[in-house]
Parts: sequence; structure tokens; C-alpha cells
Amino acid sequence: MNTKILQPSDQNIQTCARVIQNGGVVAFPTETVYGLGADARNERAVREIFRVKGRPSDNPLIVHVYDAEQIEEVAQNISPAARKLMAQFMPGALTLVLEKKPNIPLCVTGGLSTVGVRMPSHPVCRSFLQACGVPVCAPSANTSTLPSPTAAAHVLRDLQGKIPYVLDGGNCEIGVESTILDMSGDTPRLLRAGGVSREALEKACGCRIENAAKSDRALCPGMKYKHYSPRANVLFSAYYSGMAEGIARCYDMLAQEGKRPVILCLDARVPAYGTRNVYAMGKDSGGYAHNLFASLRRADDDGFDTVIAEGVADTGVGEAIINRLVKSSGGQII
Ligand code: TXA
Ligand code: MG
Repeated sequence: MNTKILQPSDQNIQTCARVIQNGGVVAFPTETVYGLGADARNERAVREIFRVKGRPSDNPLIVHVYDAEQIEEVAQNISPAARKLMAQFMPGALTLVLEKKPNIPLCVTGGLSTVGVRMPSHPVCRSFLQACGVPVCAPSANTSTLPSPTAAAHVLRDLQGKIPYVLDGGNCEIGVESTILDMSGDTPRLLRAGGVSREALEKACGCRIENAAKSDRALCPGMKYKHYSPRANVLFSAYYSGMAEGIARCYDMLAQEGKRPVILCLDARVPAYGTRNVYAMGKDSGGYAHNLFASLRRADDDGFDTVIAEGVADTGVGEAIINRLVKSSGGQII
């Protein structure tokens, strides 16, 4: 099979939707990262996602819906608090974990009785989901363990020959995945930091939002697997006032050992690193998130063997950046 990137014309969107309706798998854009979709009610199609991605079968998939009505097709016993969040943050970069309806097969949810539901806001994605007319389950459209794809070319690189089409929606605006909030219990619990900040959710809920306890790891099975890893070794700096000096020292030591490092830094600090190799990540955390996964892939393409990533403040989308970098670095913090 030769995988084709399709521009998002009406006709191409219809073509991709027909693949889903016929039990196939296609990649599509969202405002967070690209997804690898199939009809969530079709077990054979869902299993194909796991095969194509090389994903462990106990790691559940998020179900993507076009509108609020479709949420009622996949989830039940939705609490008033969850409905309030749906009204405020959907469409957007929020996934809510809700009690699943029986028509969603267990292979979608990794055997769990809950389902993650998300309504993306990307216009191409919305047209695609509307054309599909069925709930579309999808993980990020990368090969398991590699950085998530934020451009059609990233998907093609990972999945060439394994799927018929990648629907091209340009570079993903947000660049890190959705925030996952468990609303299936008595209190909201954060399972994964992402595009919607904890602060915004706390404001909407009118209460503190705690992380799921470590002992509840099974609640978000995906978090235990290796993640977001390019070929290059990733080091991640703590965020402190002398960070640039610390990173520069680490860079020089590695360079002396014959390594080829590159630094991920905010635009304003580019001059602080002198002639060292840097990728400018944007003016703030929003830019950093937007460029993060693309930069990890670019480091491999440019032949760097070590990525040294600046730390960021632990607020807003910064929390998601830190989470992805801790995983990507395997906890190698300088
Ligand atoms: O932004 C996103 O969320 C992207 C786009 C494509 O929508 N999707 C995405 O999917 O990041 P994936 O499969 O790469 O990550 C989904 C995470 C996994 O860690 C999985 O364990 C968790 O969501 N998850 C899915 N359903 C769940 C459930 N019922 N309970 C707990 N965690 C769940
Ligand atoms: Mg993923």
C-alpha cells in the first residue's frame, strides 16, 4: 500500500470518511496532534489501529465525536459537573473519561468500563467527523514510543505503507495532546496534563483538581509505557534562574566528549547560548508546546545525538510540556 497525503478538499474529506465507514483506518489532523482513526463500533477496524501503531492492547483509545449528541451514543450517566465542562471546553483539547455505553467494544477501552471522549475543534477534523457520521476512536498517529505527530509528514514518516491516507490539516496549533480528566467518579481527577490547563479546569469546576493517585496507574494505562522518544538522547533541565548557564555547561561537556547536542530554548534566550546549536521554540510556553514534538523529530533529521531541553514554569500548558519532557528523557534531569 502506498500512503498518500490528501489536501483537505471536500472530496478528499469524503474519501477519508468512506474509508472509516468501510472499516478502514486513516490519519486525520486535530488541533493537538494527528490521530489514527477507525469506526469505534467496529472491532476489526479498532484492532487494525493497534496493529498499525504497534500499540499494547491494554492501552485504551480516545473516542472522537462531532457533537454533543454523539457523546450520548458512547457514554452514559454523565454527571452535571461533566456536562458543565462539556459546555465550556468542547470542542477543544479536553478529553473526559466517562462511563461507557455497551455499544463501545472493550477493545477500544482496553477492557475498562469507562471511555475517553473528545470533541476536537480543528475545522478539517470537524468536517471529517461530520462526514464519518460515526464515533471515531483514535490514538496519536505515531508509531508507539516515538514523538506524537504534529504534521502530516510526521505521520507519513511513521506509517508509510500501513494506511491508505493522511488527511492534511497543516501543523497542529497546540502541539501537545489533550488534557485527560476522569469524570467517572465522585471527584474530577487529572490523568494527563495537556492543551487545556489545570487552572482553567479548576476555575470551571470551582474546586482543586488532584492528579490520579500513583496507585491508580491502571486508570490511565497509557502513562506507564515508554513515550515521546526520538533516537537522540533527551536531557531535561529544571527551571531556575541560572538555567541557561547550567545548560551551557552541560552542552560543552557533551561536546568535549564528541557528542552533537542541540538546545531547545525560548526565543529570548537564544543569545545566551552564543554559537551553540539551538532550536528557537517560540516566545512562550504556547510556542514551546507547538514546536516540541516537531523539534524532537527534527533533531534526529539534523543528526544531533543529544537534545537538551529548557525547563518551563509549571503553569498553563507548561505542565504538559514538563510531563512530555520527563517521559521523553526517561527522567534524565540536569
Ligand atoms: O490530543 C489527544 O488526546 C490525541 C488526539 C489524536 O485526540 N490523542 C491521544 O491519544 O493522545 P493517545 O492514544 O496517544 O493517548 C490517549 C491516552 C492514553 O494514555 C490512554 O491510556 C488514555 O488516553 N485513555 C484513553 N481512554 C481512557 C480511559 N477510559 N480511562 C483512562 N485513560 C484513558
Ligand atoms: Mg500517543
